[in-house]
Amino acid sequence: MEYDIALIPGDGIGPEVMAEAHKALLAIEEVLGIRFNFTEYDLGGKRYLSDKTLLPDHIIRELRQMNAILLGAIGHPEVRPGILEREILLRLRFELDLYINLRPVRLYPGVYTPLKDKGPEDINYVVIRENTEGLYAGGGGIFKKGSKDEIAIQESINTRKGVERCIRFAFEYCTERNEKRRITLCGKSNVLIYESDLWVRVFEIIGREYPDIERDYQHVDALCMWLIKNPERFDVIVTNNMFGDIITDIGAIIQGGLGIAAGGNINPERIGMFEPVGGSAPKYAGKGIVSPLAAISSAQMMLSYLGEDEAASVLEYAIKEVAGKRLLSLEAGKMGFSTSQVGDLVVQCIRGDNLKR
Ligand code: IPM
Ligand code: MN
Repeated sequence: MEYDIALIPGDGIGPEVMAEAHKALLAIEEVLGIRFNFTEYDLGGKRYLSDKTLLPDHIIRELRQMNAILLGAIGHPEVRPGILEREILLRLRFELDLYINLRPVRLYPGVYTPLKDKGPEDINYVVIRENTEGLYAGGGGIFKKGSKDEIAIQESINTRKGVERCIRFAFEYCTERNEKRRITLCGKSNVLIYESDLWVRVFEIIGREYPDIERDYQHVDALCMWLIKNPERFDVIVTNNMFGDIITDIGAIIQGGLGIAAGGNINPERIGMFEPVGGSAPKYAGKGIVSPLAAISSAQMMLSYLGEDEAASVLEYAIKEVAGKRLLSLEAGKMGFSTSQVGDLVVQCIRGDNLKR
């Protein structure tokens, strides 16, 4: 098969980790006979500071024609917070209607987790976060700004269609994943009564179509506690945009941190955009000391999204080997290898070379 892939290396450590994901995909091409046509786009804070470009419409049109997008990181210390996030990252999610944010949380053997007494058999769940609505939809406003009477309103927008397609995806995903066959709806039905009313009702209605999937509900605050105390309870968690944003940071740290955590922004019918969770990490940029495994994991998620299951499992095997058996740590500067050496180890593993300690 042949795929058109957009690469957006972006800012900070983005380009360095993306180079390694690219390298891993070239090795996959070589070994498995898949073809990728890569097109690189220069977007992000650096570009914005140089010529005020954020995300031009013609690029959105081009991206729509791609099979998938790999994103490094968007963010720049000299750009006021909010501009790049809203005008590039969130705009891509909205314009391409990437309504699922998929964040697998799994601890590979040999990788450090800050959870005492928990291991790979305990930390293995997936968060499915609604990615286009809720508090992120931008509803609301600020009135009488600067005066004593000022009012700030931030609305959570939840459409029946948006909630249904997210929950439907979660049930389908859970069925296919076929692990504990349990879905936890994460909400706040004791306080956010309107929004939760819709989510809980849709969860029940759609859930009845999947009688062999167990339905579970947790308030978001209690869920944060359980994710630390008993992560083994969870299989698939489905939630709104804001709660999903928060709880997936817990996921990222318990699976080994930003050096390994990856996510996908997905429209299951059209296109997916995959990214490491880590961000641009400007203080490490250009030093070659951060782990590229999160970016490589996002490439792996892209392969499964494209239906290239064999390629995805070859890449996952390589990530698992390197993360668990070769690196001293996933933390920046403590890996025992440089960013590009880690990429080389992954490539060796893909090629089936003998890894010797
Ligand atoms: C994430 C990030 C983004 C979000 C920011 C950068 C807008 O935190 O992908 O989780 O809040 O969704
Ligand atoms: Mn986040």
